[in-house]
Amino acid sequence: MSSVGDAIDTNCMTLTRFMLTEQRKRDDATGELTTLLNAICTSVKAVGSAVRRAGIAKLYGIAGNTNVQGEDQKKLDVLANDLFINMLRSSYTTCLLISEENDTVVEIEPEKAGKYVVAFDPLDGSSNIDCLVSIGSIFAIYRKEEINGKIGVKSGRSIVAAGYSLYGSATAIVLSIDGSVNEFTYDPTIGEFILTDPNMRVPQKGKIYSINEGYESQWDDVVKEYVRSKKYPKSGKPYSARYVGSMVADVHRTIKYGGVFLYPATSDAKSGKLRLLYEGNPMAHIIEAAGGVASNGKIPILDIEPKQIHERTPVFLGSKDDVNEILDAYKKK
Ligand code: AHM
Ligand code: MG
Repeated sequence: MSSVGDAIDTNCMTLTRFMLTEQRKRDDATGELTTLLNAICTSVKAVGSAVRRAGIAKLYGIAGNTNVQGEDQKKLDVLANDLFINMLRSSYTTCLLISEENDTVVEIEPEKAGKYVVAFDPLDGSSNIDCLVSIGSIFAIYRKEEINGKIGVKSGRSIVAAGYSLYGSATAIVLSIDGSVNEFTYDPTIGEFILTDPNMRVPQKGKIYSINEGYESQWDDVVKEYVRSKKYPKSGKPYSARYVGSMVADVHRTIKYGGVFLYPATSDAKSGKLRLLYEGNPMAHIIEAAGGVASNGKIPILDIEPKQIHERTPVFLGSKDDVNEILDAYKKK
């Protein structure tokens, strides 16, 4: 028999409440990070709503522009980017924004500036937009640092908090802050994100490999041999193959079920496809905090020192045992 109490948790842990609790734990906290995350939360709600209504609101298709990486911008890419930039700029918490959709950095005017640098991919998995497959947004909040007299980012180790939103069968935000990773699912009936998976941990080992196998002819021998060994194991059962083609969805599944997600270098793309500052780093921050491993094949992704805002990196991430197996193969090479 259901009661009123079953229908609505009158003491639910919302994302805002979670942030305020975290803020109280730190003596030096000013509330700036909480305000920043609230701005991201608002952007995610608005992007999520646009994604759900895209077919009706005629938001599918390309906007007619090409971004600096030579990719067609979709209408939803542009809308999501505008939302993120406007919400972050007006939150008075950021000084520099780095977006996948902007050729150059967005400098926040001094009267609105705060202390954080935010790098984001406002809508990741663009190729999946028009066919209703899961997509997401990814963000990393960096401590601002001075490099050669300019504000910049030294490495992923300067990340204060990182996360992604997934517009899937439900909308959720996964946030990594202070060494723990938590999932909040959007409850449209109250307009809040509710804590649904506290202290997420990547299983030590999984049974799934995730890679775009269409590029097999362009992989190096280590990746070829690794994937082959998952399909034709000397003993035991083969791994399952899963590849959505939206990094957020592929990483979310990897955290929940375990296994590996790989986007290696190919002979055409020597550094792979994924961008360090707003795809590799935030995901690596989340994966490491959840007990997994995230590497470019040689060093942890978070240790890479970026030279350019849109630079790319090969990505090998997921369950510790699975990722270490391919990293060991590289070491032996
Ligand atoms: P996007 O930021 O333009 O959407 O591209 C990034 C996406 C990732 O979500 C995904 O992991 C990858 O591209 C898939 O690329 P591919 O189609 O080459 O497998
Ligand atoms: Mg992307």
